[in-house]
Amino acid sequence: MDTASKLIKSWMNNAGLIATVDPMQNVIGSWPSENASSPSIHLGSHYDTVINAGKYDGPLGLLLCISAVEILRLEGYEPKHFINILGFCDEEGIRFSSTFLGSSYLCGTFDLNFLDNRDSEGNTMRELLESRGMDTSQFNKAKPLISKDDLFLEPHIEQGPVLENLDLPLGVVTGIAAQSRIHVSITGKSGHAGTTPLELRKDALTTAAEMILAVETLFDANSNARATVGQINNYPNAINAIPGKVEFTIDLRHPVTAGLNQLKEELLEKLNLIIQKRDLPCEIDFLQSVDSITCDRGIQKAMNKALAKHQKSVTSFTSGAGHDTLKIAQTCRSGMLFIRCRDGLSHHPDEYTSPEDIRVALNAWVDVIRELDQNFPES
Ligand code: GLV
Ligand code: MN
Ligand code: MN
Repeated sequence: MDTASKLIKSWMNNAGLIATVDPMQNVIGSWPSENASSPSIHLGSHYDTVINAGKYDGPLGLLLCISAVEILRLEGYEPKHFINILGFCDEEGIRFSSTFLGSSYLCGTFDLNFLDNRDSEGNTMRELLESRGMDTSQFNKAKPLISKDDLFLEPHIEQGPVLENLDLPLGVVTGIAAQSRIHVSITGKSGHAGTTPLELRKDALTTAAEMILAVETLFDANSNARATVGQINNYPNAINAIPGKVEFTIDLRHPVTAGLNQLKEELLEKLNLIIQKRDLPCEIDFLQSVDSITCDRGIQKAMNKALAKHQKSVTSFTSGAGHDTLKIAQTCRSGMLFIRCRDGLSHHPDEYTSPEDIRVALNAWVDVIRELDQNFPES
C-alpha cells in the first residue's frame, strides 16, 4: 500500500497538486488556487483491487481525475471552487470484509466497530493501523474533508454490459444498489471419512452446500437481486476427514433498500429451515449493510450536457456494483460517470477498457468538472 500511495502522490504532484497521505492511506491532492472558495468539489476513486483482478476497477477513475485536472491547469483554468482529488485506500473491503474504509474516513462516518475486524491471519485492523503509528483513538474526531455542502464526482468502468450493448463509450449513473455482506459459520463434527456412517455424521460442508444452493435459488427468483457466495473456508480441509467447520460469506444486492431488506428476510427464513433440518450450530452475522442511493439530479444534468458533446446519444442507468459514491452520497451530493469495458467483465484479470474510450472519457470528464465548477448546482 505504501508503494501505491507514494506513486499516486508523485502523479498528483506532477499534475501540480499538493498531495498528502492521510492516516488511513487515502491519497489527497489539492489544487492550489488563490481565488477558489467553498464548497469544494471532490473527484476520485479507489486504488485497491480484489484478488486476481484487472487494473481498471478504481485506478482508471483516479487517473482520469488526475489527468483532467492536469489538463485544466495547463489550460490556465482558474477554478471557482476548491478542488480535491481523492484516492481511496480500501473500497473493495477484502482484507477485513468491510468496505468503503477510505471514503467513510474522509466523510467522518468511519464505523469504529470495523477496527476490531480480523484479517485471515488474525490481526485486527486496529493492531495493524497502530503498528504503523496511527492513533485510531482520533478517528472521526477531526473535521472531515468531505462535508455536506460539497460535491463528489467519480468516474469508473461500468463493470457490466449496458454500454457495450448500446455501443456507447460513456453513461451517466442514476443511483447505486443497496448491498449487504453476511458471514455464516457452521459447526459440525470432524471425523474419519472411511468409518463414520451417515447417521453419525455432522458434516458442516454438506450443510453449507445446501445453504449456498438456497442463496442461488433466492437470486433466481428475484431478477432485480444479486446474491453471491464468494468466499468459503472448510476445516480441516482434508481429503479423508469429515468437514467439522465451514465459514462462508454472502454478498446480497438490490436496486432499492426495501427490496434488499425483503431479500434478507427471505434468505434468513431459508437458512433457518436448513439449520433446523440439519441440526448443526450455525451463526449468521450481518457484517455491513449500505442503503441504495440516488445520484444528485443537478450533477446528472451537468453530465448529460457534457456527454452529449462527445457521443451520439446519452444514456443513464443504475449501478449494481458498489462504489465509494454509495457511501459519500450519504454525506454530500454525488454523481458518477461510467466508462464502457469489454464484455462487461470486471473483478477478473481480463478486465479491459480501450484507449479510445479512455480518451473520450477524459475529454468528457474535463467538461464535467468545468461545467459543475462554473454552474454549481442548487441544492
Ligand atoms: C465493488 O467492486 C463491489 O461492488 O463489491
Ligand atoms: Mn471492485
Ligand atoms: Mn471499483
